[in-house]
This record gives sequence, C-alpha cells and structure tokens, in this order.
Amino acid sequence: MTNDQHIHTLLKELKAKLLYHNHRYYVLDDPEVSDHEYDQLMRQLEAIEKEHPDLITPDSPTQRVGAKPADYFDTFTHTIPMLSLDNALNEKEIYEFDNRVKKGLNTTEAIEYVCEPKLDGLAVELVYENGILTAGSTRGDGTTGENITQNIKTIRAIPLQLLDKHNKIPERLEARGEVILGLDAFKQLNSAREKNNEPLFANPRNAAAGSLRQLDSSITAQRPLDIFLYGIGQIIGVSTETHFQTLELLRGYGLKINPHIKICRGLNAVLEYHRNMLNRRDSLPYEIDGIVVKVNNISQQETLGIRSRSPRWAIAFKFPARQETTQITDIITQIGRTGTLTPVAIMKPVNISGVTVSRATLHNQDEIDRKDIRIGDWVVVQRAGDVIPEVVKVITSKRDGTEKTFQLPQTCPSCGSKTIRLTGEVAQRCENPDCPAQIKERIVHFASKKGMDIEGFGPKIVNQLVEKKLVKNVSDLYFLTSKKLEEMERMAEKSISNLLENIDASRNRSLDRLIYALGIRFVGDHISQVLVEALGDLHNISTATKEQLLSIHEIGPQVAESVYTYFRTQETKNLLERLFKAGIKTEKKQQTKNEKLSGKTFVITGTLTEYTRTEAESLIQQNGGKTTSSVSKNTDYVIVGDSPGSKAQKARDLNVTIINENDFKNLLEL
Ligand code: IVH
Repeated sequence: MTNDQHIHTLLKELKAKLLYHNHRYYVLDDPEVSDHEYDQLMRQLEAIEKEHPDLITPDSPTQRVGAKPADYFDTFTHTIPMLSLDNALNEKEIYEFDNRVKKGLNTTEAIEYVCEPKLDGLAVELVYENGILTAGSTRGDGTTGENITQNIKTIRAIPLQLLDKHNKIPERLEARGEVILGLDAFKQLNSAREKNNEPLFANPRNAAAGSLRQLDSSITAQRPLDIFLYGIGQIIGVSTETHFQTLELLRGYGLKINPHIKICRGLNAVLEYHRNMLNRRDSLPYEIDGIVVKVNNISQQETLGIRSRSPRWAIAFKFPARQETTQITDIITQIGRTGTLTPVAIMKPVNISGVTVSRATLHNQDEIDRKDIRIGDWVVVQRAGDVIPEVVKVITSKRDGTEKTFQLPQTCPSCGSKTIRLTGEVAQRCENPDCPAQIKERIVHFASKKGMDIEGFGPKIVNQLVEKKLVKNVSDLYFLTSKKLEEMERMAEKSISNLLENIDASRNRSLDRLIYALGIRFVGDHISQVLVEALGDLHNISTATKEQLLSIHEIGPQVAESVYTYFRTQETKNLLERLFKAGIKTEKKQQTKNEKLSGKTFVITGTLTEYTRTEAESLIQQNGGKTTSSVSKNTDYVIVGDSPGSKAQKARDLNVTIINENDFKNLLEL
C-alpha cells in the first residue's frame, strides 16, 4: 500500500469510529468508550487533517464548529412546504378530528394513529444527499426558511453522515424535526446570562430559537441543543408505507427519534396516551406542550390530503396552558446562600396546569426594570417543568395608577449590612458571610432531598438553630448534641433523638450528594455526579487543577472556574476539615444499608423511559449493585431500554439475563 492509500484508509476508519461513537453517546445515550478514548480518536483525526488539509471533507467530525460568523442567513426554499398543525384543545375536538378522519376514509373502523410528544422548540429541516448532511434550515413561513447549516452542524445529536448499517441510503433525504433545549440547560443558560448582565430567555423554546439563529455558530456550539426528528419532506430512493416505518428508518440512519412515540389504535388509545403524557410532563427533561396525533398509514394520509397549510391527517392535542394571569400583591427580597438578593413577586394564588402558584422569581433589579414590573400589576405568569415560576410580562392596560415601583433594599433585610452591586454585575449582594439568612439557606440546601437528605430538617428548625447560634455552618450539624438541642423551643425528647439520628445517617451519603450539598456555584446534582465519576474522591476533586477539570466531558470553563475557586478559599478548607472530623464519607463508593442488589453487576443499554441513565445507575449503586459499561461473563443483568445497542446481542450470546425497565423496578421493589 502506498503512503497515500494508507492515510486514506486510516482517515476512513477514524471517521467511521467517531461517527459510531458519536451516535452511541448523543443519540442512544449509551456510550461504549470512555470520553478519553473518544478524545484520542478525535485528536488523531485532527492531527492527520492538519498535515493534509486537502483531505478535510465537510462531513468530517472536526467540521462541526469553525466557520466564520455570517453577516446574514441565506434563504432556503423547502422542496415540499413544511406544514403546521391544527390544534385540538379538548376531548370533544379530538373526537371531532377522529370523526373527520373516518369520514374522509369512508370507514367506521378504528383508525391506526401514531402518537408523539409535541416538543416545544423550533422546527428544522435537515437535507442529506447520498448520506451526507448538506443543509439545515428553519421552517420560516413553511415555504422558505433560513439556511442555518453551520449552526445545525454544531448539534452533536445530528449526524454529519447517515449510518448505513442495514438500510439503503437514499439519494436525498429531507428529515424534519424539532430542535430543543433541555430544562437543565435552559436554567444554566439563564443563570449564566443573569451573571453577565444579559436579558434572560423567557422559556426554553425562545432560548432554543435564539441559540439556533446566531450568526456566529461558535455561540450556537456552546449551547447544548438537542433534536428529535418526527417526519420527512422529500425522500428519493427509499419508500415506506407507514409513518411509524418512516421513523424506524430515520432511527436506523442514526437520527434521534423520541422514545415516547407509540402506535395507538382508535380514539380511546389516543386519549389514554394524552393522559399518560400529561402525567409525565413534569418529569421529562424538556418541555412538551401537548401530543401530536398522526394517521399512521401513508396512503390514508394521501387520501385525506391537506387543507390550506395543515394536513387533515394530523392534529396537535394540546395540554392546558402553562401561562395564566394574576395580580402581584407584594414584592419581597430573598437572600440566597451566596448573599444574592432576589426579588420575589407575591401573587394572588392561581392554578397553572394543576399547580397552585403564588410566588414568582423576578430574578434581579434589571429584569424588574426591563419588564417594568410594579406592585399591584396584573401579569402573565408561566411555569415549566420544575423551573421556578416567572413573570413573563405586565398587562399594562389593566393599570389604574395605584401600582408602586420596587427597588431592592440598600441594606440586607436579614443582617442589616449594606448591600452592594459591583459595577458590571447584575446581582445586588449582602457581603456578610455571617448573615443569618445566608447561613440558613446554605443549611437548607445542604440538608435538602438532592443533597444530604436529612429528614425532618425543614426551614423552621434551621431558623431556630441559626437564630440560637447553635449552627454557624453546615459542619456544625454533625457536632450537635441532645443537650444543645434542648435549648430549642417546642422540641420533644423524641424529636430531638430523631433529628440526631437523621443527621447521623447522612454521614454515609454518597459523595456526589455531598458535592451537591456544598452549594458550589453552577454545580447541580448532575455535574456533581460527573465530578465524582471522573475524579473519584473529595481529595482529588478539591485539588484538581483547572486544566484537569476542563478535560472532563461536560465540564465547561464556567464550572471549572467555580469549582477551582471554591476549593481554594480558606473558608472551604476549614469547612472540609471539620466535615472530615465529623466522619463524613468522602470516597465514591457508597456504604449502603439497602442491599437488594448486593454483589450484582448491571449493564444498561438503550433509552429507559422513567429514568435517565445516571439515575438508573445511582439507583443500582444505592442498592448495593454495580454498573459496568460492557457485557461480560461476570454481568448478572443487562437492562434493555428503547433502541438497545449491540450489548443486548452480546448478552444473548453470553447467556446473561436480559431484563426490561419493569423487571428492573420489580427487582428494586419500586
Ligand atoms: S409534525 C405535518 N410532529 O409543531 C405536520 N410537529 O404546529 C408537521 N412539533 O411546526 C409537523 N412536535 O415545530 C410534528 N412530534 C411532532 C412535533 C411537531 C413539535 C411542532 C413543529 C411544527 C408545529 C406545528
């Protein structure tokens, strides 16, 4: 083989490997190799391409980011218009839709529908020519959108090249779907924007749209956008008979399909699906605003046809609105655990899709000023998932002149020290580290469910402990005695011993909970798990350099900086020393009293519906089991979710017990 041939083969192999591992990670959420191994492959490819720039192709995994910022977007004309959907707002309207479909098909039999979550993001079209991604565009007015190819390429869940395992690659494929931003990413993005004095996004959809319509694709690349494909425009060279087959085909090409899509025969099955998804709405990691019901059979779709801009064979069955109007009766100031003053609107209670809301965050003074929010105003309030309710806008036409403007106080309402707002910062702060309100918040966070999970440790008890100066920082909890607690009002002997027992039990919580509980800026429950997974024990985490932190997948500059700085303050050092003294567990492995899965080794493959992979893994660990990434003779169970990978086959080959999500729950007696 000549040197040239050798390089060509090497490049081809590397690209194929990267394509495969990218799909496992971003589409199936089921990686086979460590981040380190993936990075090594990427570096090899980069090195070769640097030597041979003429061999760089647009579908190379190195070409996701790097294009120069554009001055404007070119327009993009869709081969087939991108339609929109009619809405059904209640059961009656969906019943009428089903009747129209039956009438149109001249049948009285139950119709086979496909039901899908209606994702709240931005519709896009991806064009693949002979398997290579050549264009990405927005829906626009349905006929013409914007050419956003450079930005589309930064989304990791979008393959630059289709997989061709078993399928024939079409000459041309226009795949359509919704680009979304998950709720966690949305919260993180907004909190970073708040810090940088930038206006906040009102909801994840606006954040997704804003991120995707950036002229500078390097900004888009920093936003963890995701996508689910739900249909096609033109396809040349391959055909399908049902919508469900189309989705399966797309899935086979390595495109990401939502795991909750189901075939529902007849109206009752559709209604049940709607109820079911409505129940799950708050636990999904992204926003959905209803379900989409589509006639499955494509020739039936053709018979039904299109009316103006929407198909007669599909309908959006919406969920109750996430927005309501109510009146602000007061604005109060809350002090967070880092001393930030947050204005909070107190409102007349209002029911927003099943939850009574009477408070909404107003974020900071700039947001109040920008939205011109006043006490007495009628406002539109919105909630999404577990994101704190927010005021979207003021209904100024309802003002009668009695409304009062609000300014954050110049002195801390808790400790009385002067509050300051540094130039260039949005947050106004109380800088007194001994401020009782801050101490209380730090302790409440430390003891919270996702943190050290100390039962019976609500704000009332914390208030007393701090006011009586029994606790000055979280480590003091572990040095409380029944004698000290006797000072507390209305605490029976029994409650005291319960409290001490619960505190004691928390010494054994897993390390990721401790990291979360410390309340480090930008370190939520997920990032805590990532840190523990990568670095193993508290010593390694607290001494990691910024470079080490940055080399961890999912850790960006903001988190790295925050973790690094946190562990270098004298205050943190003192705190950790006391926590060590208190006998807190600081290694990764959990000592658990719950041993249902003791000694058992698990491998997870495919997407689970009720748990994320990290949740399932920590459930296994909490119950004394172990998880590994590859199947071997020593594996006891392989849990198989939707779109399982090669691990399921390997399990069958090795005769390892295969279980589904329900069996898993049964094992845990959940
Ligand atoms: S199908 C032929 N499926 O809803 C029908 N749309 O109101 C075309 N959307 O522009 C759309 N989830 O942005 C379809 N599973 C889903 C969807 C979905 C969200 C959005 C999409 C579309 C809008 C229509």
